[in-house]
Amino acid sequence: MGKIILTGDRPTGRLHLGHYVGSLRRRVELQNSGEFEKIFIMIADAQALTDNADNPEKVRQNVVEVALDYLSAGLDPAKSTLFIQSQVPELCELAFYYMNLVTVQRLQRNPTVKSEIQMRGFAESAVEGDTAQRQGIPVGFFTYPISQASDITAFRATTVPAGEDQEPMIEQTREIVHKFNSVYGPTLVEPEILLPDNAACLRLPGTDGKAKMSKSLGNCIYLSDTADEVKKKVMGMYTDPDHLRVEDPGKVEGNTVFTYLDAFCRPEHFEKYLPEYPSLDALKEHYRRGGLGDVKVKKLLIAVLNETLDPIRERRRYYESRIEEVYAMLEEGSAHARAAAAVTLDDVRNAMKINYFGDKELIASQAKAYAEKIHNS
Ligand code: TRP
Repeated sequence: MGKIILTGDRPTGRLHLGHYVGSLRRRVELQNSGEFEKIFIMIADAQALTDNADNPEKVRQNVVEVALDYLSAGLDPAKSTLFIQSQVPELCELAFYYMNLVTVQRLQRNPTVKSEIQMRGFAESAVEGDTAQRQGIPVGFFTYPISQASDITAFRATTVPAGEDQEPMIEQTREIVHKFNSVYGPTLVEPEILLPDNAACLRLPGTDGKAKMSKSLGNCIYLSDTADEVKKKVMGMYTDPDHLRVEDPGKVEGNTVFTYLDAFCRPEHFEKYLPEYPSLDALKEHYRRGGLGDVKVKKLLIAVLNETLDPIRERRRYYESRIEEVYAMLEEGSAHARAAAAVTLDDVRNAMKINYFGDKELIASQAKAYAEKIHNS
């Protein structure tokens, strides 16, 4: 059987470089490798609503932003099905059945759910009537790992290219698949996560050196940033706080500019922008020794980032002037995704024996049992 990809993003903001090196760049490579039978890329608006109940307009506005980011990064609707989660209601029905296979305790142990409860400031023991600061955990938010299992299994995905933070979701999906198949017979496919292979890409820090790029921290470089914005952000980037004078020896570990170079730099960039260094290793070596200033390294990073982002900006401009076409593409993709999910849902209903009207045997055997009862009475 061929390999199938399903992955996606919540539309809560424009996509940034963390998304790009964490998953988006990989998806485009996989798409163009021709190795996959089908590729589904989902804009997870319904999941975004699980913790944005009072901000639906934010989610609504960002659907097209994420679609533009996808297309700009090189996802091609001729090769990949791009769709909107809420337009595939089959996913809800699957989730409703999977809910019976997961315990509250198991959800409470999901590390991503746990840390998101902390981050969102949901109170774990809020009681009815609490003030706004002590909002409880929305049920939909709490159960989103189950909904994510539906997203993945509906398309029989074998492969989920995603960031490290999604690992607990894939693990939980595999458990649901395992449980479903052992109760109802082999029906669903167990997926695997495909993580970035380079540590810098696994978790790209923010421009301030904090662990993660995040909109709320204001430390992101967006795919849609202009060359000037990128320049400004890189010039203000966190480096080694002890590297005060050019002559001082510097630290490369935990130095955000070098982490970004690890994520973006290719050998040919040196020939082009800094021919006096044969490689990134040689540049790091000089920085450690002392005598290499931050500005020179930052200028290299600006050149590399803008070279990477230029074709993305160009495609964005193209699609920004064709918003109606972008929506038409998403509508077509959603219809296609819906048809694919409906096939799996049929299998699930059959396996669960809740396909009453199509189950001629069930009807015949019950009719026969009652016929005998009537006959014998
Ligand atoms: N949880 C993902 C995020 O926060 C979005 C998502 C929803 C997803 N369903 C998925 C990712 C299925 C991979 C597979 O960005």
